[in-house]
Amino acid sequence: MKILIEKDYETMSLRAAEITAAEIKKRRRLVLGLATGSTPLGMYRKWIELVKSGQLSFAEVTTFNLDEYLGLPADHPQSYHSFMQEQLFRHIDVKPDHTHIPNGVTPDAVKQCKEYERLIHQAGGIDIQILGIGQNGHIGFNEPGEDFGALTHVVRLQESTRKANARFFSRLEDVPTHAITMGLKSIMNARQVLLLAAGSDKSDAVYKAMYGEVTEQLPASVLQLHPNCIFILDEAAVSNLP
Ligand code: F6R
Repeated sequence: MKILIEKDYETMSLRAAEITAAEIKKRRRLVLGLATGSTPLGMYRKWIELVKSGQLSFAEVTTFNLDEYLGLPADHPQSYHSFMQEQLFRHIDVKPDHTHIPNGVTPDAVKQCKEYERLIHQAGGIDIQILGIGQNGHIGFNEPGEDFGALTHVVRLQESTRKANARFFSRLEDVPTHAITMGLKSIMNARQVLLLAAGSDKSDAVYKAMYGEVTEQLPASVLQLHPNCIFILDEAAVSNLP
């Protein structure tokens, strides 16, 4: 695991954008794994700037998002479909049929999970997987205790995760209880993983992920076993390093 420490959120975002943009320019048909949440927004903004100034194109890029809430249709304002449209897709030249996000209102969630893995495989696998990290060490919606061997599957969200995400909903009761997420094995199958983290509230999870025991109790710790993983952090996220 390689660790890059940047001064603050802005410089962390810039570094992540530069690394990914260089790969997209090198191999235009890149397959990207994407995350939602606050952390990658700065990087997405840099990508948008690069596209608008003609320095980067997503025209041949394929994307797969990590997760989606179960029960929210794509056009729900808090669905990850809406999030990705608003924060990234509608501002760049990615082809809509090259973007993939699990369907939150599928009649057969289990079948859809299998289909999602098939689509990733058919696209040639994920070249670069972008991740954020939860305060409990979750990645995607893989909560503590999740099986390292899991592919895309349905999960029940922990109360701590629902509370953390309640800031985007009017009431905690509106936050869905289940989601579809790529599993830890799906994430480990990516050729490269970039985990982004900023802020002191992530420092405990980041420290355990990098130096703690590799355990299903801290899902991100599995990344210690990945052959090509980079943690891109700001100084606050490493504030409790010895
Ligand atoms: C979102 C996702 C989550 C977030 C994590 C951190 O697609 O996969 O694992 O990356 O909850 O969220 P933020 O970035 O909002 O702190």
